[in-house]
Amino acid sequence: MKVVLAVHGGAGRRAVNQETYVTIKNVLEQALLEGFRVYKSGSSLDMVVAAIEVLENSGIFNAGIGSTVDASGSISMDAGLMFRGKAGAVACVRYPKNPIKLARFVLERTEHVIIAGGAADKLARKIGLEPHPGPLQRVLELYSNVIIRLRRGERVESPFQKSLETWLSLGDTVGAVSIDRDGILAAGVSTGGVFLKMPGRVGDSAIPGAGFYANECGAAIATGIGEYILLTHATLKIVEEMCNGAIPSDAVKKILNIVTNRFGSNTAGFIALDNKGRVAGLYNTEMMPWGYISEEGNVKILGI
Ligand code: GLY
Repeated sequence: MKVVLAVHGGAGRRAVNQETYVTIKNVLEQALLEGFRVYKSGSSLDMVVAAIEVLENSGIFNAGIGSTVDASGSISMDAGLMFRGKAGAVACVRYPKNPIKLARFVLERTEHVIIAGGAADKLARKIGLEPHPGPLQRVLELYSNVIIRLRRGERVESPFQKSLETWLSLGDTVGAVSIDRDGILAAGVSTGGVFLKMPGRVGDSAIPGAGFYANECGAAIATGIGEYILLTHATLKIVEEMCNGAIPSDAVKKILNIVTNRFGSNTAGFIALDNKGRVAGLYNTEMMPWGYISEEGNVKILGI
């Protein structure tokens, strides 16, 4: 079986109820089918962007509409893409509903790799991207609870002391990897970042080789605490493993072990796809909802 597209909804804690699992499964399936629809006529870049747009718009993951907030209570998102030796990414953006579309613009229409902050928001407006409607009610409630606890003098653990266990009940970043009919691979990610991060903080999802990477051997994407993924150059290393002959499952296992040994469990998850259409997903968290679709259109959902 040759896998042509794989997606994930982020590494994190187990969902609290069955209903949530069903919603997650449905959205992942929808993202895979939307990406696959493009497979017949488009590139792997088209597939990754189409799938991530579905995940960003779902509101159930920490990306796009569902993005979490920083310590000031504001949304700031990162997203990145890699395709045909080029990368395009945006960091710390607040304006676009779909940061992945802005990352695509950077990749295809500029000579740069990363555009950040207010200038990136200005660009999003200029090219007519839809505005973000602001944080969801459940995100604002989570934030208010933390503020109330801080005002009461309670100690609130940072995600960096407690890892993803404390904060991410429904997962982290979303992402997709794909291979098109010409055998070209693509990787993409989008995220609201870590809850309560310092304003201005940029995570792995804006940095090629950290949150995402793709070349002629394979494509890899990361989810988890961005600082740890950045310090490991995780996706670049996974792809390098594949270039050196490792199958995707061995490549992700090796790099996940490095992250776990250095930073502990509940910190990260990865998906890798190689140029033969072999795929693997692995995580050191309670769950990482992910799935793939084969060239025959068969869908499989795992990790929940
Ligand atoms: N992995 C997403 C972030 O840390 O921003």
